[in-house]
Amino acid sequence: MKRIGVFTSGGDAPGMNACLRAVVKTACADGLEVFGIRHGYRGMIAGDIRALDPAAVSNMLQRGGTLLKTARSPEFATAEGRARAWAHLQQWGIEGLVAIGGDGTFTGAEVFSREHGIPIVGAPATIDNDLYGSDFTIGFDTAINTALDAIDKVRDTANSHDRVFFIEVMGHHAGHIAIHCGIGGGAEFVMVPETATSIEQLIAALNRGRDHDKTSFIVIVAEGGALGDAEVIAARVGEELPALDIRVSKLGHVQRGGAPTAADRLLASRLGNAAVEALVGGASGVMLGVCNDRITHTPFEQAIHTQKPIAAELLKLVDVLSSS
Ligand code: F6P
Repeated sequence: MKRIGVFTSGGDAPGMNACLRAVVKTACADGLEVFGIRHGYRGMIAGDIRALDPAAVSNMLQRGGTLLKTARSPEFATAEGRARAWAHLQQWGIEGLVAIGGDGTFTGAEVFSREHGIPIVGAPATIDNDLYGSDFTIGFDTAINTALDAIDKVRDTANSHDRVFFIEVMGHHAGHIAIHCGIGGGAEFVMVPETATSIEQLIAALNRGRDHDKTSFIVIVAEGGALGDAEVIAARVGEELPALDIRVSKLGHVQRGGAPTAADRLLASRLGNAAVEALVGGASGVMLGVCNDRITHTPFEQAIHTQKPIAAELLKLVDVLSSS
């Protein structure tokens, strides 16, 4: 293998640049030529490809976002779109790919690799931490630190005004961000899609707190839950407990930005390096990960389709620590 391509795809995640840097530097050290594909699969279809060298990725390690830009590409879900992407890769003589992204990225990579026989190795980068086969994904640590910083600030105002705040965090259909922030931020209640929680349980918890003279509350709501978003849940609680002074705060895309934490920089550097070594060593159709501090390979199918559970210990812990 002489020429490889690299791209970032799906929602951006802090640490994508650190991963890209490690891919480029490792590939160049191995004597490979590296080509960056801009805007993920969309750029592959459009032929938006350029050579990268270590100078192109210098001073990027600490930056949020992605130098290569990213996109979600409905066209890549079609055989015609993938055929166009394949034609461009052939034109450039690209023989293998490193895909940096989340479940949508690896869903596309799995089909593309099977269809056209190109080896693809993935590095998991998503703030959602929802990929099976890696204890943590690139961007998750930064996102929970960003969210926690906001939650601490909201607590100050909640406390001053004796208010109940419903804070919605991202996570797509997974509650990893919510659980970690719930524990780290000392939330009074945490709602995640993985466990069924009723409005009655939430109301009972708030009433228990009030019985213990608690005057302000932080309820963390993971997006994607069965009861609806934070506004819907807050409205239902407001109907049942009209005496409460309730506010809603959706943290939104701030969770995706910012400089990666030390943990994310290290994880991204390790995974970028390991992805190139795996590709050169003949691996394909796998997502790399770090489990128990060791590099692991997980087939794309498994990484995408096996649900990564929230550790039972964390669910129990949040219950114990949030109770009044
Ligand atoms: O997958 C990352 C993520 O931020 C999810 O947490 C969220 O549901 C989604 O992306 C938002 O996507 P978009 O930026 O396309 O609205």
